[in-house]
Amino acid sequence: MPREAILVIEDEEKHRRVIGLHLSSAGFEVKAAGTAEDGLKLAADVDLILTDLKLPGMDGLELLEKLKGQNSNTPVIVMSAFGTVENAVEAMKKGAVDFLPKPFSLDHLTVVVEKALEVRNLRNENRELREALGQRYHFENIIGRSPSMQDIFATISRVAGTRATVLLAGESGVGKDMIARAIHQHSPRRDRPFVKINCTAIPENLMESELFGYEKGAFTGANVSKPGKFETADTGTVFLDEIGDVPGSIQVKLLRVLQEREFERLGSNKTMHTDVRVIAATNVDLRAALEQGTFREDLYYRLNVVPLNIPPLRERKEDIPYLVQHFAKKFNGEISDGALERLMSYHWPGNVRELENVVERSILLAQGPRVEADDVRIDTTNNRSRPAASTDNFLPEGMTRSVEACGWQQEPGGPLARVDAQCAAVQARADGAGVAWGRRNTG
Ligand SMILES: Nc1ncnc2c1ncn2[C@@H]1O[C@H](COP(=O)(O)OP(=O)(O)O)[C@@H](O)[C@H]1O
Ligand SMILES: [Mg+2]
Repeated sequence: MPREAILVIEDEEKHRRVIGLHLSSAGFEVKAAGTAEDGLKLAADVDLILTDLKLPGMDGLELLEKLKGQNSNTPVIVMSAFGTVENAVEAMKKGAVDFLPKPFSLDHLTVVVEKALEVRNLRNENRELREALGQRYHFENIIGRSPSMQDIFATISRVAGTRATVLLAGESGVGKDMIARAIHQHSPRRDRPFVKINCTAIPENLMESELFGYEKGAFTGANVSKPGKFETADTGTVFLDEIGDVPGSIQVKLLRVLQEREFERLGSNKTMHTDVRVIAATNVDLRAALEQGTFREDLYYRLNVVPLNIPPLRERKEDIPYLVQHFAKKFNGEISDGALERLMSYHWPGNVRELENVVERSILLAQGPRVEADDVRIDTTNNRSRPAASTDNFLPEGMTRSVEACGWQQEPGGPLARVDAQCAAVQARADGAGVAWGRRNTG
């Protein structure tokens, strides 16, 4: 691999040669100049500049200014036999990255050069990383700077254009709805219907007719024929929210739609075809439901083509400042650093939805023009927004007593029901690999 190029500007020929030879033998590509004027002509193509301060004509300090004027990012190390502190300070002020007082040993030279290049490479890497991630701090109006959200944005971009079924998993309020809509918006179906079905809201006996429609006379009260959601959504996208709540009898029929894109209206034996893209969402761990036998395995695999797991907000706290800024703009308010600090230290059981509500309420009720720490209105007394049904928050058996001590309540095997303000975050996770849990006090 070719090593970095270093430009040596030194009027004294012997020094120039010794330094040049040393750096070449250390593996660098060396360019040399006897004056700053000549050096400037070579400066654009090198990774580092090593220059004498005292030069005939233009001196080292002027050279630094010229480089600055050209917006050069190339690091400059200055050397000077007149190595007084003032010279060094002056050079550093003008942008030199380091100072080598003459005489110096060649070993010292190597160390200083390597260090300057290392810093430069790190800076470049950071800049490249920032540029690469720059457009991904948000995806439309979905805000997220954390690596997990950036992965999600990348996946959305990749799958939006396809017809692949997407399964969104995450606690309530993490943004599943938003993501489902964004996928539809970025798909070729964007001008076609986006039909959301909330599987929890529909009673079991009505679900089949809601999903697949019915013919006149199919049941008492069916005075007219009516298309179901899968029919209305034809050529568009169906969003099945809370898919984990779909009863077994309907699961079979969904499986058929997913596999064959076929169904019948209730009270009809005419098979209908539909061209829909399916996005499903769940706030329960479907794998646990599989094990309990409440969710069909074949349906699960049909849905889980592209799994997207959206982590709870407390696991991506770096997103909070960006979300707060976004919501502050939305609700026409200003949030102080102190207020942000308070928002950052909370565990957000209701995730982004709760954060959005708190920011809005705090802006509305703030004493002054700006939300200060004391204006932050977090409702910890009635913390029902914690996703009670999420299996991610199930505690393993035997853990019940230890969590009671800090205010958690849980029926054996059931969800966590309440959190004490003192005990800011208890996370329990029951996944295949085993069970881990921890708690953190924020006092
Ligand atoms: N990443 C995000 N950026 C901006 N707003 C978000 C984000 N995630 C969630 N929200 C907001 O939080 C609320 C809840 O989001 P939603 O998509 O309904 O969550 P879920 O479907 O997972 O319960 C919505 O008002 C949405 O605007
Ligand atoms: Mg939702």
